[in-house]
Amino acid sequence: MTTPEEREALVAGAGYNVFLLDARHVLLDFLTDSGTGAMSAEQWAGIMRGDESYAGSDSFIRFRDAVRDITGLEHVIPTHQGRAAERILFTTVCEPGDVVPNNTHFDTTRANIEFVGATALDLPCPEARDLSAPGPFKGNMDLEALERVLADPDASVPLVMMTVTNNSGGGQPVSMENLEGASALCRAHGVPFYLDACRFAENAYFIQQREEAWAGTPLIDIAREMFARVDGATMSAKKDGMANIGGFLATNDEALARQEKDLLILTEGFPTYGGLAGRDLEAVAIGLYEALDPDYQKYRIASTAYLGEHVAAGGVPIIQPPGGHAVYVDAAAFCPHLAPLDYPGISLCVELYREAGIRAVEIGSVMFGTDDPETGERQPARHELVRLAIPRRVYTQSHVDYAVEAILNVYERREEMGGYVIIDEPPFLRHFTCRFAPAAG
Ligand code: F0G
Repeated sequence: MTTPEEREALVAGAGYNVFLLDARHVLLDFLTDSGTGAMSAEQWAGIMRGDESYAGSDSFIRFRDAVRDITGLEHVIPTHQGRAAERILFTTVCEPGDVVPNNTHFDTTRANIEFVGATALDLPCPEARDLSAPGPFKGNMDLEALERVLADPDASVPLVMMTVTNNSGGGQPVSMENLEGASALCRAHGVPFYLDACRFAENAYFIQQREEAWAGTPLIDIAREMFARVDGATMSAKKDGMANIGGFLATNDEALARQEKDLLILTEGFPTYGGLAGRDLEAVAIGLYEALDPDYQKYRIASTAYLGEHVAAGGVPIIQPPGGHAVYVDAAAFCPHLAPLDYPGISLCVELYREAGIRAVEIGSVMFGTDDPETGERQPARHELVRLAIPRRVYTQSHVDYAVEAILNVYERREEMGGYVIIDEPPFLRHFTCRFAPAAG
């Protein structure tokens, strides 16, 4: 616990970028649900069993078999986390000038595509535009828009991706119907279809709860059906792998897998460990099944909804309905007196830290703003969001109650919140390291 005076000095010292705070100075850490979960007794037991053989370890075999069992994908390439899988995939399949559609790209996915000179195209469904209107599957892709891109003779599309759940779009799920539709379009045009599977188990739970045809179907069978509609997947096991580190790239294309493994050896490691220790592979192999435990998912989704519903009841504008892993506050609506390029999301993150030592993350014009290639003028992102992501199996209801109270206190005095300017930024993925100063006035 820190005092308000200490927090004021700490956040100023971090250039008002909460990524640059030391975790010891954060009381409730809602920065991310990635790698921040508590592992189970079973996972820790697996860690003790880890086989650290360089090649062909038992731990790799258990990992590969778990991934195959759930995804049905034949070639399983371990990576140290999701973005390593993305980098290998996109450097293998993308050429400069290509277009890669997604329901909504996550920041690292977009950056890895842009890094190879291709275009990352977001095709969110029309319902996603109205942040405050509830809907069961606001993570869906706009299939008409996808069809137009696939039919465009000038667009070279090496693959289409679907992110489940749709993280940058509010942690909203994708329906099986939408997955099926996208898959059918891709197959008709001979384009591979991939899943960004980070939160596949949460998505499976939402399908079970909200899509009538799947009510009562076990989560593992829903997950298998989701993967049956794709040709490959990238995964950060730091989310629904319930692990602190890990990921994979998987495909049914043998020739492609061979090329990917060559790249893997160059930067990650031998194809049976891919940048991970054998014990980490064990933790993921066990965690993938734990994420599909219906009681765990019921509790997880209920606790996120509890946070969302309580702040919304106090008037705080959030993306409705609350997402699976996070609640997304609409910072533009929270601070209507601030323009997008005053970075209202940064202002809200700073204020939550000042108020209560809570760390959240901006998903707005700092993360996704662009510069006009001709004029150099800064373009805002589509939305100004602040995400409160809930680590898995870490926080209890009393923590969440404290967060609700803090958010409502900040909301009460929202008119006092000022804007920020960026004073120092790297060339890409600037949100991680850039520094801010309060805007004058
Ligand atoms: N795809 C999605 C949808 C993600 O949410 C993430 C990470 C990645 C890919 C990359 O995985 O971090 O293991 O390299 N999301 C984290 C977050 C960082 O906070 O949402 P990674």
